[in-house]
Order: sequence, then structure tokens, then C-alpha cells
Amino acid sequence: MKRKRNKENPLNKILVIHGPNLNLLGQREPDVYGKTTLEEINRQLQKFAKSKGVELEIVQSNHEGEIVDTIGQANKRGFKAILINPAAYTHTSVAIRDAVAAVSIPTVEVHLSNIYAREEFRHTSLIAPVCHGQVSGFGANSYVLGLEAVIGLIKK
Ligand code: DQA
Repeated sequence: MKRKRNKENPLNKILVIHGPNLNLLGQREPDVYGKTTLEEINRQLQKFAKSKGVELEIVQSNHEGEIVDTIGQANKRGFKAILINPAAYTHTSVAIRDAVAAVSIPTVEVHLSNIYAREEFRHTSLIAPVCHGQVSGFGANSYVLGLEAVIGLIKK
């Protein structure tokens, strides 16, 4: 049966979640995170998504509960995959990990910096074990690589 495309059940719609402080990209520790702003990253993602025939909904939040809510609604809202940079919550949030595990939507974790080459507390991701995979250390390009990976998952 052919599925109709509509707002609540779009085909190939991917949810992109940026976690805390990523709204400050461009001015935030440029030596670590680069000079590219979040708006520029989002533009790159939208351009790449368009070229691949997928739709993105992009959100940024500094609040753990809000991110948990967004992930929890992802199934009902018809998202086929999630691309997430949980930022600092990567290392602390059991709640976000449980939300990703609960929805069982293919999820890819991304980081601008190489978290394994930084302070020890960043070496552990609580989220990665419930994700399909992780991209870490390629600056803004981590997002495009991560998006390519999630598109590959939904087009399988
Ligand atoms: C980050 C890495 C995290 O350790 C840090 O807390 C961030 C950004 C990254 O993209 O490199 O906020 O997720």
C-alpha cells in the first residue's frame, strides 16, 4: 500500500537535535568547535537533505527534559531517523539514552570535536550504546557525515 505524504506522517523525515550550548557555535570555544555557526550547519544539512530527497526538522534545546520529550514524540510524528548531538548530555543523561532506546528509531550520534581526544569525562557517551553509530571529530562536517549515515539507514 502506498503511504500518503502529509505533515504528521511524512516519508523520509529525519529529526535533527542539537543539545545544550550548540546555539553558541561560532563564538563558543572556536579552537575546539570551529567558527561555523549553528545556522550555517543547519543550512548545510538542509542543502544535503534536499539533494538526497529527505526532509529535516531541526531543533536545538538547552533543556534535557525538552530533548527527552522531542525524542519521545518522534515515532508518533513519523520520523524515520534521528541525528543527535547531545552535547554535554552525552556524558550525563540516562534520560536521553532511555528515550533513544524507547523509540527504537535508527539514531546516529554526532560530535564536532573528537570526544576521545579530550578530557577523560568526555570519553564516555551514555547515548552511543543505544545509537546505530557515532561520528566524532570532523567539525561541522561531522553533521553531514552523520546525516549521510542516517539516510543510508532509512533507505536500506
Ligand atoms: C560536543 C562534545 C561535548 O563533550 C560537549 O559538551 C559539547 C559539544 C561536540 O560536538 O564536540 O557541548 O558534543
